[in-house]
Amino acid sequence: MRHPFRSLALGVLGTAVAAGALVPAASAAPPEHSHGHQDTLRRQAPRDLEIGSAAWGQRDLTGYDKHDPTDYQRVLAREFGSITPENDMKWAEIHPEPGVYDFSGADAVMDFARAHHQEVRGHTLLWHSQNPQWVIDASDDWTCQEARDVLEDHVRTVVGRYAGEIYEWDVANEIFQDDWDTGGVRLRTEANPFLKACAEDPVALIGDTFRWAHEVDPKARLFLNDYNAEGVNTKTDAYYALAQELLADGVPLHGFGAQGHLSLMYGFDTSIQANFERFAALGLDVAVTEADVRVPIPDGQDGPTAEQVTLHAERHDAMLEACLAVPSCTSFTVWGFPDANSWVPDVFPGEDWATIFTDDFGPKPAYHAMLASLREATPGVSPRSGR
Ligand code: XIL
Repeated sequence: MRHPFRSLALGVLGTAVAAGALVPAASAAPPEHSHGHQDTLRRQAPRDLEIGSAAWGQRDLTGYDKHDPTDYQRVLAREFGSITPENDMKWAEIHPEPGVYDFSGADAVMDFARAHHQEVRGHTLLWHSQNPQWVIDASDDWTCQEARDVLEDHVRTVVGRYAGEIYEWDVANEIFQDDWDTGGVRLRTEANPFLKACAEDPVALIGDTFRWAHEVDPKARLFLNDYNAEGVNTKTDAYYALAQELLADGVPLHGFGAQGHLSLMYGFDTSIQANFERFAALGLDVAVTEADVRVPIPDGQDGPTAEQVTLHAERHDAMLEACLAVPSCTSFTVWGFPDANSWVPDVFPGEDWATIFTDDFGPKPAYHAMLASLREATPGVSPRSGR
């Protein structure tokens, strides 16, 4: 890794660390005052790397008025060259009843992205979570053929609608269990209704899901995506083997995404670059698709400590640096902002402060660390090949 966190050590964090104090919620000047015209993540990104954020169209982008944008919309447009619909393309939102598609949230994301010259990462087509009740109910007695038919219709309809406008799709999401799950690391042939119906040959279904998507949108780069998939571990070993198998079968698999949901409760696995390099060596793109870093905040503690702020910045930056160091890393996406919009407080009690913007849209030290790393990676200085 190049000059790890040099800018942090010398700059942004100096005051907070020296003071040893809790960092107030508004830890930086409002964006208008702290940024020159060029000084945004999307502008500093190398030409071959998209810096993105998740955004929930249905919640945050419907009714967008370019003459009167919200603060949130202003920052989303200014900082990010890519948007991932946080929920709008998931089955429960886009396919709420059999044969009924609701594109309103997804369209809001596409419209906003078009208006601001942003790319869109599609998310997601085959997942065990956020499926509508009708899928959960019907899947109890699906034959594999019935499950295939439902999935194929969905993939062709959703991918087809946005064909040519989505640069990367998370086709299969979280299809492997973790080593701490019952049965260990193996395909989710119980929790995932489609894989369950086709448990005799789940890999064939996964391969066909990629094929259907590729047929209707040949330009989209098609990804596997998962959490706990940053470093070299038993789960990514399983993905590596699956990727080899799919590629050997001629499946149009183009990328591997590590979600990048980290927590300061755990250590940081520094093998992310090595992991990305092994997938890149298979000819795949790689990406960090959902980065955030959760901070445990005990009851009564009013925000993160200075030390937590430093670590929060370092881990965001370490993930970005790993991506910058691997020329096949095509996108780095943070999972929403500001903290008030984040999924973290809802899902992880006792953890918060996971995003790179404070609730008044002040950039946190993590933002500044990322910006500094992007600046250093400008073509000519960067180790990237300049593909
Ligand atoms: C999360 C969203 O952020 C929440 O709004 C929603 O309630 C649950 O899902 N891995 C993924 C994402 O692939 O789709 C998840 O997003 C976070 C974990």
